[in-house]
Amino acid sequence: MSTTTVEYDVKDLSLAPRGRNRIEWAHQFMPVVELIRQRFAREKPLKGLKVSACLHVTSETANLAIALKEGGADLRLCASNPLSTQDEVAAALVVEFGIPVFAIKGEDNKTYYKHVLQALGHSPSVTMDDGADLVSTLHSEKKELIAGIRGGTEETTTGVLRLRSMAEEGVLRYPIIAVNEARTKHLFDNRYGTGQSTLDGIVRATNVLLAGSRVVISGYGWCGKGIAMRAKGMGADVIVTEVDPTKALEAVMDGFRVMPMAEAAKVGNIFITVTGNKNVLGPEHFQVMTSGAILANSGHFNVEIDIPGLESLASGKNTIRDFVEEYALRDGRKLYLLGEGRLINLASAEGHPAAVMDMSFANQALAVEYLAIHRGELQKRVYPVPDEIDREIARLKLSSMGVRIDALTPEQETYLHTWSEGT
Ligand code: ADE
Repeated sequence: MSTTTVEYDVKDLSLAPRGRNRIEWAHQFMPVVELIRQRFAREKPLKGLKVSACLHVTSETANLAIALKEGGADLRLCASNPLSTQDEVAAALVVEFGIPVFAIKGEDNKTYYKHVLQALGHSPSVTMDDGADLVSTLHSEKKELIAGIRGGTEETTTGVLRLRSMAEEGVLRYPIIAVNEARTKHLFDNRYGTGQSTLDGIVRATNVLLAGSRVVISGYGWCGKGIAMRAKGMGADVIVTEVDPTKALEAVMDGFRVMPMAEAAKVGNIFITVTGNKNVLGPEHFQVMTSGAILANSGHFNVEIDIPGLESLASGKNTIRDFVEEYALRDGRKLYLLGEGRLINLASAEGHPAAVMDMSFANQALAVEYLAIHRGELQKRVYPVPDEIDREIARLKLSSMGVRIDALTPEQETYLHTWSEGT
C-alpha cells in the first residue's frame, strides 16, 4: 500500500502500476501536449494557480494533468461522468504523480457530486470543466468560492451551451474559455474522436457486426457526422435524424437517408443519439422498434434516451453482458440499452484515442495559461480560444506528423488584402 499523503478517493491504489503503463502508452500519441509540458516545466507559467478540473479521468487526461502540474499548478481532479473513470489511471495519478483525484468508475450520483465538491476543496483560482457540472455546482452550492476564481475552461458542446445560457441570463460570474470552439478541438475530437470511439464502445459492448446493420444516428453535428462517416465506412446502412434543416440537408448530400425518428424507429437495428437534447428516443419509438434493437447514447448526458419511458414498457430487465441491459417488453420484444444510456465511448471503451485528445488538451493547457497571463482582463462571458493558439496547435500537430505545408508568397499575401484586382 502506498504511503501517499495526497488526498484522494479512488477505487484501489494498488492499480497504480497498470495505470502508469496506460498513461505512458497514451503519452507517445500526445506530442503536442508533451511539447507544452516541457515548456511548462521550464517556465512554470501556472505557478500559484489552484486548478479544479472536472474531466473524464482517462490516460489522456492524466497527461494533461501532469503537464499542468509541471507548469506549477496545484491541481485537483474529479470525474465529469460517473461511468468514464479509468480506475487504474486515477490510482496512478495519486500514487505516482501526487495529484489528488476523486473519481471511481460506476459511482452513484451522490458520490459523483461529493467528488465535485472535493475537487473544489482547495478553493480554486481556475476551473476546468467537461459538461459544466463543476461551474454549476460553484454557482449553486459554493458561491463563496467564486470571488477567488479568475476564469475557467469548458471542453464540450453541451457545457458551452449551458455556460452560454448562464451568460445570457447574466448569472455567469467569471469568464470561460470555450475549448470546444477551437477548430483544432471540434473538427477532430468531435468528428474523428467521437466517430471512432462511439463505434468502438458499441462493438466492445456487443460485438455486433456493423456491416449490413441499419444504424440510425440522431443528430448531425460534428459528432454525428463523424459517427455516420465511420459507420458507413464499416458497411452500415446509415439513417440520420435531425431537427435542423441545414444539417439534415448536409446529411442528405453526404449520401445518407434522412427521415423522422418515428419512421427510423421502425427499421433501425442500432440507434445512436448524439444530439445534446433530451428524450430523443422515447416510448413512442420503443413501441415500434424491432426486437433486438440496440440503443446507445454518445451525447454528454444520459438524458437522450428516455430510460424511465423504456422501463415503463418493460416487464423486466437483465444485465446480459457488461454494459448491456436487456429490457423485455410486455409484448415479447427485447431492446438492449448500452452503458445505462451514458456516453458509450467512455462507458464501455476508452474514449477518444490519445492522438486526437492531444489537440483538445493542448487547447486546454494553453487556455489555462492564457487565463493565468490575462488575469483580470476578461469579462464574465464565454470566449473562444484565441486564434493564434488554435493555429499554433494545428502547426505543432502537423509537424509532429511530419507533414509540411506551403506558405503564401508575398504577392499572394498582398492579393488576399486587395479588392481592386478582378478578372
Ligand atoms: N472525452 C472523450 N474522450 C476522452 C478521453 N479519452 N479522455 C478525456 N476526455 C475524453
